[in-house]
Order: sequence, then C-alpha cells, then structure tokens
Amino acid sequence: MIASAEKPLFTLNVFTKEPLDFVTISLIEQCFSVKTTIKKIPKRNWLRASNIKFSPVKIDKFTVTSSFFANSIKQDKFSLIIDASLAFGTGHHYTTKFCLQLIQDLKKRAVNPLKIIDVGCGTGILSIAIAKLFPSRIIAVDNDTHSVEMTKRNIVVNKVANYVKVYKSTGLVGNHLNSRAKYDLIVANILYKPLKTLMWSFTKNLSNNGFLILSGLNIKQARHLKSISRQFGFKVIDEKKEANWAALLLRKIDCKRATPLND
Ligand SMILES: C[S@@+](CC[C@H](N)C(=O)[O-])C[C@H]1O[C@@H](n2cnc3c(N)ncnc32)[C@H](O)[C@@H]1O
Repeated sequence: MIASAEKPLFTLNVFTKEPLDFVTISLIEQCFSVKTTIKKIPKRNWLRASNIKFSPVKIDKFTVTSSFFANSIKQDKFSLIIDASLAFGTGHHYTTKFCLQLIQDLKKRAVNPLKIIDVGCGTGILSIAIAKLFPSRIIAVDNDTHSVEMTKRNIVVNKVANYVKVYKSTGLVGNHLNSRAKYDLIVANILYKPLKTLMWSFTKNLSNNGFLILSGLNIKQARHLKSISRQFGFKVIDEKKEANWAALLLRKIDCKRATPLND
C-alpha cells in the first residue's frame, strides 16, 4: 500500500501480507494526514531479491558482494561474499562502511590484534573482513538467532570458518566470552543505548592498549560516547563521520581510571 500526502512531502510505504481493513486504513490516513492508494505486489522470493539488490560495493581494499554477483566479478583475497537475507551488514550502510575502514586503518598502522570479538555480528561481515586481514582468533556474537545462522553460513562461504567462532549472546555474556585472556580488539556496530550499557564490559575485557571500534551512532551520540569513554580509560584515536552517522576508534590507555557508569 502506498500513501502520499496531498503536498507530497513524503511517501509512506506499508507492506502487508494481509489486506488492511477499513478502520486501519482510516487510522493511518488520520495519523499521518495522508491519502492512501493500494497496490497489489506480485509474489516473489524476497530473500533472493534482497541478495540480488545488494550490488557489489568497494570499501578501500575490500569488495563486498552477494553470492548472486560473486561469479560475475573478479575475486581476490579482499573479496567478501556476503548474503544478508534478514541479517544486517552488506557494506552499503555507513555504520558498516566506517567499521571496515577503521579495521583497515588499524592494519595500516601496523596494529596486529590476535584476539578479537565482533559484538552484533549481523551477517558476519566484520568478522570475515578481520579474518582476511589479521592472523587472529575471532569471536562473533549476536543476540539474534537469524544473524548467528547467517554468520555461520557466510564464514564457510568465505573460507574463514577455522578462525571465527560464532555464538548467540547479548553483549559479552557467558564465561567463554568474558575470558581471562583479554581481547586486543572489540568491534561493536550496535546502537547508542546498548553501546553505552556495554562500555564497562568492553573496558573490562579489553587488554591494555587494546582497541575498541564503536559504530551505529549519530554525530551527537558519538560526541557523548567520546566524552564518557574517558571515564572508562579510553583515548579517542580516530573518528569517521558522514551523513550524520559516526564511528569511533578508541584505545584503552588508562586502565586504573576505568569506572562503571552510575546511570
Ligand atoms: C547494525 S547491525 C551490525 C551488523 C554488522 N556487524 C555490521 O557492521 O554491518 C547490529 C547487530 O547487532 C545485534 N545486536 C543488537 N544489540 C545487541 C547486543 N546487545 N548484543 C549482541 N548483539 C546485538 C543485532 O541483532 C544486529 O544483528
């Protein structure tokens, strides 16, 4: 169903499997001050369609492509074959792009993290990129079952399954994640609120001088996280900003200063 305002300031697309009844349509019209038009969309395989739609994207050295396009472009060691289906992470969104750039920047700075965790792995795109750049052990976690399954599939397709272990977890929950051997790099492209909540657990589980990449933030949220990150003993090393999205590269430099947040 497509609804558009009389003065077409915006278009609201509502997709539904069931036909909408008269009351629901009236409610939508009143709430959004719009007139509706209803259109029947032919049945199709939406998961396949979404893989096709994600055309190849180049982010510095990496080329990210869905398996649909993989045979039509030249593959090298920086090719990431990512099928998303319902998971997030094709490289087309700023939040993912920033992380892929910051990971490559670490390589350029000759940083060689050995133990890494990707919190909120989605399709597994960041874990796969890391496995291709660094000779490391990577843990990928997500609190969404479907994302965990997609990451498991994608690490096999990209031939990095020996280096990446995948678990279902909210943050770093579980003894195998909060381990004695600390992480040298934590990457978390989630959202501002869960990131803020996880800051204490990040600092506790990061080695001294370890790196933390935070993404999924707007510019205002990034500014706030930057200022509270000092409380956790972090120094801001780098920042990416575009279209009101932002990502941070932090380094744990002052472990004695780290204190949990009260709020
Ligand atoms: C924006 S996507 C990022 C996916 C991928 N890492 C990327 O960079 O494109 C965020 C992912 O984090 C997961 N997530 C959100 N909050 C989480 C939490 N507290 N712990 C673990 N996973 C979380 C979501 O299910 C989602 O798959």
